[in-house]
Amino acid sequence: MPPMTILEARALAHSFDYPLFRDLDLTLSAGESMAIIGVSGSGKSTLLHILSTLLEPEAGSVTLFGKELYALKGEELVALRRDDLGMIFQSHYLFKGFSGYENLEVAAILAGEPIDPVLLKRLKIDGVIGQKVTELSGGQQQRVSIARVLTKKPRLIFADEPTGNLDHDTALEVMAIFDEYIKSHDASLVLVTHDEELAMRCDRVYRLHEELFEPVK
Ligand SMILES: Nc1ncnc2c1ncn2[C@@H]1O[C@H](COP(=O)(O)OP(=O)(O)O)[C@@H](O)[C@H]1O
Ligand SMILES: [Mg+2]
Repeated sequence: MPPMTILEARALAHSFDYPLFRDLDLTLSAGESMAIIGVSGSGKSTLLHILSTLLEPEAGSVTLFGKELYALKGEELVALRRDDLGMIFQSHYLFKGFSGYENLEVAAILAGEPIDPVLLKRLKIDGVIGQKVTELSGGQQQRVSIARVLTKKPRLIFADEPTGNLDHDTALEVMAIFDEYIKSHDASLVLVTHDEELAMRCDRVYRLHEELFEPVK
């Protein structure tokens, strides 16, 4: 049996002050990772928002797990986000008044999944996870966000520059963790990054460039 299609976009177009992309097609299968690269302002984050239920495109369609996204009702989009998607975005969705660990507990309770101490060690946050989110550095908050999303065990992860505040070795470890997660859970990843070396660790790589979505790998 061919791998199941998780995400499909057809003929997407969007513009803000200037056109960002048009006629953009993509598909992503279970167990597969895709990186999107491109210079600042090329529309990477906008595309990720469109693919992840947050922004309706000017033209085209997005199908997630066989459902056409922007035909769904608001509450169906909320349920999809809650149950199936993991979002690691630059504005970390962490509860600021809570400790890192309490943030993980919220995700763990909602998903009925355990918190994995090995994951915290690999992300090198096991020693600081008891501290309030506001006391953590940007890089530590970024890693708590990654741990929170993985604790939820999503079928599809969207990550926007998830390693932007991390040193190179830690960024490589995060990529290894993502890779193991998607392969072992038959999950999928869409990663936006400006780091081509990290991007090349994904199964497929595309570049947003002058309104086009060009395959690089
Ligand atoms: N909500 C918005 N309203 C108006 N302009 C926006 C909005 N979001 C993004 N833009 C503009 O769209 C362009 C692409 O932004 P973005 O998708 O964030 O690019 P990238 O992530 O590749 O740096 C930028 O010029 C940005 O200012
Ligand atoms: Mg961006």
